[in-house]
Amino acid sequence: MTRFGILTSGGDCPGLNAVIRGAVLKGETVHGQEFVGFLDGWRGLIENDVMPLDRSSVRGLSHQGGTILGTSRVGPYAEPHGGIEAVRRTIAAQSLDGVIAIGGEGTASASKRLHGEGVNIVGVPKTIDNDLDATDYTFGFDTAVEIATEAIDRLRTTGNSHKRCMVLEVMGRHAGWIALYSGIAGGAHAILIPEQPESIEQICAWVSSVQSRGRSPMVVVAEGFTLPDMDSAHSTKGLDGFNRPRLGGIADVLAPIIEENTGIETRATVLGHIQRGGSPTGFDRVLATRLGMAVTDMVADRDWGKMVALRGTDIVRVAFDEALAAHKTVPQDQYQEVRVIFG
Ligand code: F6P
Repeated sequence: MTRFGILTSGGDCPGLNAVIRGAVLKGETVHGQEFVGFLDGWRGLIENDVMPLDRSSVRGLSHQGGTILGTSRVGPYAEPHGGIEAVRRTIAAQSLDGVIAIGGEGTASASKRLHGEGVNIVGVPKTIDNDLDATDYTFGFDTAVEIATEAIDRLRTTGNSHKRCMVLEVMGRHAGWIALYSGIAGGAHAILIPEQPESIEQICAWVSSVQSRGRSPMVVVAEGFTLPDMDSAHSTKGLDGFNRPRLGGIADVLAPIIEENTGIETRATVLGHIQRGGSPTGFDRVLATRLGMAVTDMVADRDWGKMVALRGTDIVRVAFDEALAAHKTVPQDQYQEVRVIFG
């Protein structure tokens, strides 16, 4: 019998519970593995705070948003309780053969460091931002795109009624995937992403051209988008637990600028955490379940220092080093492909 601890860390994401369920079901059934869940991400690992995870505790979980384990933006080396000794103590106390860390870039970096110090650890990638290079898609992204697309559809009907310009801000710190996909799906007239600077003049020209055809302009902007005169992404809310600036509010900056320059009444909506909440789409449930099942094969093989990932339609294994080499940002040509129909 082998025994593993599972944790979810960083921002939550629809599909986390489906990963946990997939892992526990396959792990128990096929490999005879046992599991415990660490509560609130790395905190549970460094403080030995766990819950049992067996077949009955994951029943019916694949459609449930959030994570039954809880999450936090606290790293395993965080003071005052963190550090390699605390991690080793919990692993010994729980008689674990290894740790499965489900998380984004911050979690993968921490896992890589722990692996370097001899901890048996593997990862499952997650982020609604879809910005991890090692995997074609992360679960949670499809759900976020669905929610953002519905928001665009709704904003368009109210925008049309009032003949207003509507600006929707979606998440996307370094990468504009949610903005790009939901913007295309919702027929936005301009999509603004962190990877591609656009001038006020250009944005307003698109907005005015939509209005001149008697339509109501719809602009989608990612939270990480910067205007040419900005040094960094708009942030007025301090730092998060990983010491990154908390983003949000660029739509509120843009809307009055558009209104002033075009004379079109403009309203801003910041979608925020709505796009991270609720039930995952069918696509995300399938991807998350497959990743959860595949990670049990990886720990059964004692193939540490890697994470599972989607390549095409296959689930593959990727070393943490490779996974962390680069952000998956929107390539210039993919943006240009749709930019030609803006306005
Ligand atoms: O990293 C994923 C993400 O969704 C970013 O797009 C966003 O900036 C961040 O999480 C917000 O996280 P929170 O407010 O939950 O810390």
